[in-house]
Amino acid sequence: MGVKSENMEGKERVMKLGGSLLVPSVQELAKEGLSKVPERYVRRDHHHELDSSFDQNSPQIPIIDLSKLSSSNFKASELQKLHFACRDWGFFQVINHGVEKSIVERVKKGIQEFFNLPMEEKKKFWQTPEDIEGFGQAFVVSEEQKLDWADMFAMIILPPSLRKPHLFPNLPLPFKDDLEAYSVEVRKLALKILDEMVEALGMEEKEMRELFEEGWQSIRMNYYPPCPQPELVNGLSPHSDAAILAVVLQVNQVDQGLQIKKDGFWLPVTFLPNAFVVNIGDTLEVLTNGIYKSIEHRAVVSSEKARMSIATFCGPKSDGHIGPAPSLINPQRPASFKTISVAEFYKGYFSRKLAGKSYLDTIRIQND
Ligand code: OGA
Ligand code: NI
Repeated sequence: MGVKSENMEGKERVMKLGGSLLVPSVQELAKEGLSKVPERYVRRDHHHELDSSFDQNSPQIPIIDLSKLSSSNFKASELQKLHFACRDWGFFQVINHGVEKSIVERVKKGIQEFFNLPMEEKKKFWQTPEDIEGFGQAFVVSEEQKLDWADMFAMIILPPSLRKPHLFPNLPLPFKDDLEAYSVEVRKLALKILDEMVEALGMEEKEMRELFEEGWQSIRMNYYPPCPQPELVNGLSPHSDAAILAVVLQVNQVDQGLQIKKDGFWLPVTFLPNAFVVNIGDTLEVLTNGIYKSIEHRAVVSSEKARMSIATFCGPKSDGHIGPAPSLINPQRPASFKTISVAEFYKGYFSRKLAGKSYLDTIRIQND
């Protein structure tokens, strides 16, 4: 992933944000019918049991009905619900979101076909040691580091000038066009949600728009193969997303996968049909001066079924700065974070391995 840093001799120079070590395809590995997970994937630092209080009656992340936000009768109460969801959960599902169902269905189909391409085809899209785009895993910084039980495909979508010639333009048709249409729709959805958040927070609209409108957008498609010992691995290590907002679509129906850290426990998210799961990224936590929270989450895997998802990340403009919005700083709520350049922020994020939310602590200001 790159950030445009400056113009040199009329050409855009792309600043690299760090690479990731090359890793084998877990999808291929899983086809070998192993009875045990190779050592490089075995975690000894956690166990997957959920707290016993989480059962069928467990709390679920809030559900926001987007159509209610444009209805005079329901607006006020739904906006308040959104505000609490962002403040107390950092995660919610959106229903009646207005994204055309046929586009979503086409992208779901395309993703399944894409991961099922023969390895020879997929190699053209594989990561190189200098780059975290393409097939592979992000955040692998040492040969000793444990790996996640997943293959990922990451790619920058916006600005178009940062698209890698061997990735987006080379996708098979009609997947390329479907993904393009999907990305436009998800961006509209993200903007709609952010506008509502601005209203709920009583923030200046331009503070959000300035950062978002020329901001980057990327996707990550995740493929979590079935695993012979699912309780020993991570599908996706615990992390919070660096972006402003993340919009996640589960591609196939699997009951268990995404989990969020809620009050110290891992809580499973049950994706509703035709819904998107939306979560607050670190950048939005900083921008809202800590009022909205990015939440640690992870993916677990099953012994039976492969699971696929696609996450769309909307980030800030690359030559901007990230810091608390001035309209949300006051004597009762002094700035909780330093203001730093976007380039510096993401460079730090992408050169570390995923470690929960610890990265935000590096710019946190201790107010007592
Ligand atoms: C991610 C992510 C969740 C999922 O890609 O950052 O959190 O359900 N994905 O795959
Ligand atoms: Ni995530």
